[in-house]
Amino acid sequence: MSNRQPLVAANWKMNGSRESVAALLDGFRQGLPADGVDVLVCAPSIYIPLAADELAGSNIGLGAQTVSEYANGAYTGEISADMLKDYGCRYVIIGHSERRHIFAETNETVANKFCHAREQGLEVILCLGERLEEREAGMTEQVLSEQLEAVIARAGIAAFDGAVIAYEPVWAIGTGLTATPEQAQAAHSFIRLQVARHDDRIADELRILYGGSVKADNAAGLFAMADVDGGLIGGASLKVDDFLAICRAAG
Ligand code: PGA
Repeated sequence: MSNRQPLVAANWKMNGSRESVAALLDGFRQGLPADGVDVLVCAPSIYIPLAADELAGSNIGLGAQTVSEYANGAYTGEISADMLKDYGCRYVIIGHSERRHIFAETNETVANKFCHAREQGLEVILCLGERLEEREAGMTEQVLSEQLEAVIARAGIAAFDGAVIAYEPVWAIGTGLTATPEQAQAAHSFIRLQVARHDDRIADELRILYGGSVKADNAAGLFAMADVDGGLIGGASLKVDDFLAICRAAG
């Protein structure tokens, strides 16, 4: 029996304004359950300083949505792990499907980013997930395994000690089509078994979040599954009441 503490992470994507960031974080701070669930917010980079101020003294963690694979230097437009840490940002999402598919991040780029973030002491949420045509072709496990093994090969299994994985079927992101609890459980247990082939203890302690149209009314069913340790929440994290209800369902 594992004692993995549930984690709920907000992924605001490219949404918000100074006003909405302050209002959302104020609402989260006031309404969050005191214990039983870890909560963090992954804000657009430019709002990280504001979010850090708003979250000072609260137990809500702060994360970024991506990070450069490089250390500080001549990389126009990039934001480094050092810069994120400078603002009290402890977490970073790596390999979100929007980064993979819209911004052409390959398994190799994702692995480089994961390695660099870990070496710099950031906590990572590594996203894995298949596209609809891959699921329909029966390739879900193959895709998940390739995405995962590319990172393990580059970073080593020890880098997964304390890391977080998010299973996000691409067909469920922002579409309103949620994976059923059984579909999520099957993918999560597959991912945990893959990690266990390298290290049993790390696999047992690994938190695996589900992401893809998690809402207040479907969260409890997903979180009840044995290998679902919380969620990565997009659209519903932009509404205070919906996000708080999802946090309560996890806790
Ligand atoms: P969604 O996004 O909850 O809006 O489907 C989840 C994600 O992309 O992390």
